[in-house]
Amino acid sequence: MKTPKRYILIGFMGAGKTFLGKQLSEKLNIPFIDSDEEIEKKHNSTISEIFKNEGEEAFRLKEKKFIEALNPSESFVLATGGGLPCYSRNMDLINKLGKTIYLKASPTCLAARLLNNNTNRPLIENNQLEQLKQFIKEKLAVREQFYNDASIIIEQEDLKLEDLLKVIEND
Ligand code: S3P
Repeated sequence: MKTPKRYILIGFMGAGKTFLGKQLSEKLNIPFIDSDEEIEKKHNSTISEIFKNEGEEAFRLKEKKFIEALNPSESFVLATGGGLPCYSRNMDLINKLGKTIYLKASPTCLAARLLNNNTNRPLIENNQLEQLKQFIKEKLAVREQFYNDASIIIEQEDLKLEDLLKVIEND
């Protein structure tokens, strides 16, 4: 039996986890999983609805349950929600599950990307550019200690699939 390949993309909102994750899964011909999408399907609600109706803590619990229920014998590329690695020892769990890859980007870059891309991202709804940058700086200061535990850290803001593949191959 072939050893399963499991890559887990982590990083802040706007880092490109879903975008690159889908491309990577197609290239490697293994399934793509997006934690937000799976949670939405399972609970038949959008992320925004879950935050509004049940609160952030309830959402974090759903993320935890999602990670615990993943089948470690299968190959996959997983894109996690930006906060998932930073709660209740999830980073330890995903590090055990497969190769974690932190897509690192600066607050300036992330804010520019997220400014007009905040739909279904309840933590940054209605933010203006400067507010957004400040929010990202503060959150990143807390979250980076978790993200930095990834097996691979890539700091390249215009990262392409080919670059990601090279990093994985050389690891
Ligand atoms: C969140 C990131 C979102 C989503 C939720 C909370 C966060 O996922 O899970 O809105 O806490 O950073 P993306 O990183 O895919 O936008």
